[in-house]
Amino acid sequence: MKPHPLDLSIGQLAERTGLATSAIRFYESKGLLTSIRTAGGQRRFQRSDLRRVSFILITQALGYPLSAIAEQLDHLPESGAPNRRDWERLARGFRADLDERIRGLELLRDRLTSCIGCGCLSLKACRIYNPGDAAASGGTGPRYLLGDTCPDTGGRRDRVE
Ligand code: FES
Repeated sequence: MKPHPLDLSIGQLAERTGLATSAIRFYESKGLLTSIRTAGGQRRFQRSDLRRVSFILITQALGYPLSAIAEQLDHLPESGAPNRRDWERLARGFRADLDERIRGLELLRDRLTSCIGCGCLSLKACRIYNPGDAAASGGTGPRYLLGDTCPDTGGRRDRVE
């Protein structure tokens, strides 16, 4: 495949994305980006790789490992710029996980000042909602944030105050 006149050099891609060229080479070595070479051996990236890099940066900031990001990017076509449908398909792959993360973050935001069933029993409310660390029967960690229901609320976690 020949480079297109609008393709970007690694320096241009770095400048536009704010990444170091070494980071771009690293992503390429991990299969997250693919370049083509000029006759002189220089890397050229498609303009659509700007969006691809943005996706990588955002998903990394959200805590996804590179392997999971690469797995999702594998759903995009190998050649040519991905179109809207391609990105929609990729978004569907992330939706369930993102919804779960959003739910967890909302719970964390709303419950951090109340009992989360972690076993500390350090808040006054813990003695009401987690007497004797009953939440531990569900396993380790903050049981009420992980999805266990609080018995004193009739199974509704959203009532834990
Ligand atoms: S906050 Fe830790 S058991 Fe309630």
